[in-house]
Amino acid sequence: MNLRDKELREQAIDRVEKYQTVVNQDPYRLHYHIMPPVGLLNDPNGFIHWKGTYHLFYQWMPFKTGHGAKFWGHYASRDLVRWRHEEIALTPSDWYDKNGCYSGSAIVENDLLHVFYTGNVRNDEGDRETYQCLAVSKDGISFEKQGVVARLPKGYTAHFRDPKVWKKNGRWYMVLGAQTERLEGRAVLFTSDNLRDWSFLGDITGSNTDQLDEFGYMWECPDMISLGGKDVLIVCPQGLKADGFRYQNVYQSGYFVGELDEGKPEFKHGEFTELDQGFDFYAPQTTLDESGRRILIAWMGVPDQDEQQHPTIPNQWVHCMTLPRELTLKENKLIQKPVQELKTLRREQKTVEVSLCQAAEQLDLDHPDSAELYIEPSHIEEGFEISFRGAARLIYSKADGVLTLERNSCVDGRVESRHCSLNELRDLNVFLDSSSIEIFVNGGEEVFSARYFPYPGNNDVSISGRKETVMKVTSWTMS
Ligand code: FRU
Repeated sequence: MNLRDKELREQAIDRVEKYQTVVNQDPYRLHYHIMPPVGLLNDPNGFIHWKGTYHLFYQWMPFKTGHGAKFWGHYASRDLVRWRHEEIALTPSDWYDKNGCYSGSAIVENDLLHVFYTGNVRNDEGDRETYQCLAVSKDGISFEKQGVVARLPKGYTAHFRDPKVWKKNGRWYMVLGAQTERLEGRAVLFTSDNLRDWSFLGDITGSNTDQLDEFGYMWECPDMISLGGKDVLIVCPQGLKADGFRYQNVYQSGYFVGELDEGKPEFKHGEFTELDQGFDFYAPQTTLDESGRRILIAWMGVPDQDEQQHPTIPNQWVHCMTLPRELTLKENKLIQKPVQELKTLRREQKTVEVSLCQAAEQLDLDHPDSAELYIEPSHIEEGFEISFRGAARLIYSKADGVLTLERNSCVDGRVESRHCSLNELRDLNVFLDSSSIEIFVNGGEEVFSARYFPYPGNNDVSISGRKETVMKVTSWTMS
């Protein structure tokens, strides 16, 4: 452990202790989502299930509520539900990562946990440098850095990062997000047979290639998975223009389904589909767990969007993760279901038949700041809306085939909205936490994820129909 590392760890721990009371009295602290103990959290990193424990590392800036030289913070869990904050995994303390241990992934080989991450460096001229680095751990808790394992190939800018590593037919592959010197976003591939020496194979798809027209100036946080007999590239392109209901957030997060030919290398794929219809979803990462499930967790935020206006900032923390979701592929579409372990949080089940005609009906929830709802409509004449604690509304219009989530902006209080088209509405599974809402539509065919900031004490959740609506509503307190 070098001196700088020791110093940074001590400073971070001091910071957690110093602000613990301030952070914990924030009414927007979440009840069952992952958040930073202090400071800023962004991308999930190194997500893995190893010897019965789920490890979720995260981009952490302990010293302020803005971005900067990131640490890898660490949470661990046996059940994806109850998480324990572990000691810091990585600090930006070496020449090759001094301005941030940026995002990356984990694999296990020879009974050692290996994490690959991007060392972000600002050199003396103030220019960015990027290094792909390795650190290993025997116990999943403390890491030994092994230094740089891959360097920037020709033709790309230093926006080249976020390694995701996997094994196929006895070889290792690493996909990264990149930007060409012509400012085009790309996904690129490296390979290795020993995890230490990596050779560059080339790009596999990206903006201004055979397969895509202009599609962003930078791609971040790629993840290549095989699911339902297909290869799926999950990636976050930056620089897409808003297009109808699509691409409404500042940066996007979605996937291409296709087939990867590592030899060429080439990834032949179909169209890009966004993973989430809400306001806050970015940098998702998946892992294949020990039971064979493909599980996804994302950052419930978007860089540069409205981060600095979150009302949690005066209380010295910002952002959280989404709930873990199990992925499946159905007709080339990713389906996301909240992992079944979340059911262990359910308490005090209530079921009501709601039959509405215009008038709003209040739902009897004991803790709408920590609740789950399961809604099955049996008759919808025109549509309905659900109002959440005066700060968000979900509106369904059957005639238009559109589901809309509205919330009050934390920047200027104005109502902002996101929409998606639906052929039908079969069910809604809503997860409410103190300052987040996640809505799984039609068994996870669509999901809306968003932060929202209701006035503490406003606990009204009500449903109103446009003409006749009949639905069964089951609710639980989550604790
Ligand atoms: C995505 C990202 C990554 C980078 C990390 C830095 O949110 O910009 O590309 O590795 O965050 O914190």
